[in-house]
Amino acid sequence: MRLSHKVEKLPPYLFVEISRKIAEKKAKGEDVVSFGIGDPDIPTPAHIIERLCKEARIPANQRYPESEGLPALRQAIAAWYEKRFGVKLDPDKEVAPLIGSKEGIAHIAFCLLDPGDTALVPDPGYPVYAFGTNLAGGRPYFLNLTEKNGYLPEFNRIPENILEKTKVMWLNYPNNPTGAVADLDFFNKAVEFAKKYNICICHDGPYSEVAFDGYKPVSFLQAEGAKDVGIEFHSLSKSFNMTGWRIGMAVGNAEAIDALKRMKSNLDSGIPQAIQYAAIEALNGPQDAIKEHNDIYQRRRDLVVETLNKMGLQAQLPKASLYVWAKVPEGFTSAEFAADLLDKVGVVVTPGSGYGRNGEGYVRLSLTIQDAILIKGLSRMADWHDSKNIMRYKR
Ligand SMILES: Cc1ncc(COP(=O)(O)O)c(C=O)c1O
Repeated sequence: MRLSHKVEKLPPYLFVEISRKIAEKKAKGEDVVSFGIGDPDIPTPAHIIERLCKEARIPANQRYPESEGLPALRQAIAAWYEKRFGVKLDPDKEVAPLIGSKEGIAHIAFCLLDPGDTALVPDPGYPVYAFGTNLAGGRPYFLNLTEKNGYLPEFNRIPENILEKTKVMWLNYPNNPTGAVADLDFFNKAVEFAKKYNICICHDGPYSEVAFDGYKPVSFLQAEGAKDVGIEFHSLSKSFNMTGWRIGMAVGNAEAIDALKRMKSNLDSGIPQAIQYAAIEALNGPQDAIKEHNDIYQRRRDLVVETLNKMGLQAQLPKASLYVWAKVPEGFTSAEFAADLLDKVGVVVTPGSGYGRNGEGYVRLSLTIQDAILIKGLSRMADWHDSKNIMRYKR
């Protein structure tokens, strides 16, 4: 088989590789605790599932869906954005439902980039921004996100010769993998910068509802003039524990949304209609489950951060997101540390290097595992730490 050069160079997705290693261990009868993928363990709220089941039985919902989404779904998305962020959206022109935001993130690159164009991509960052850019023939220019700059890109450090070729800038707050957040002032500055250099901002905000200690993340679209220069990707995956149903949205600039809808109408046939109704139920229905879930994640976050800090792993308390970002112990790369943990105590953490060069020296722990398993995993990590100290002492 002669594959395309693009696909030949494409590595397997980060979590495919991690899942393979977990399956290998499990096949040997070993018990593995995974702090890997950010996939909520808490079920989708009951009223959403009930609606899904009811709608699945209706014959009209068993046929091809409208690829641009039911008008009622687009209206529900617009109403939710207004209620949650005070952002007004035209459901016909400024809303594109997606089969999970991941596909939209990859497909938008084909709408905005020609071969040779540059996209500014956060490092560390969600890997799909760079993969999409590369597949569309574009070139990622990585924006350094570091502890020192609060994991916020410094626009004034991007060279002019790069900016001349730049058409897209990816941003993502609350941030995966670092848990960092951005305020409205940052987004206002980003819009100003995008206007100056004629860049389209693609903000990815699937964690806006997962926040702690009373903190409420803002939407990029709340920034003055944001709709003139960009769009926001969002998802029901993390807000309503619906990762498995695959439904998300892109909202904002009408021209970019129209391009994405046109692209998708040629590629896919939309979201199964019963799932669209489930999303309508989630968006229009009671939002109490969000606070209940956040209380659970917050408790887990506190436990994880406390344990890691006791082990000397230097973890910050994230204000939002499903992740704790922690420094690896001295003498290990992030991949070596992750491999040693898996090998010695059957615990999976994600090596920061999988998210880019600046992720080296860190690991990401997801808070999406049940309390009892999480406690078991932390206790194994503490054992790992003690055994290393004993080994050092013996030497
Ligand atoms: C930053 C970020 N964007 C997008 C996604 C994709 O979410 P989905 O495709 O489930 O909507 C994820 C999933 O983990 C993510 O972390």
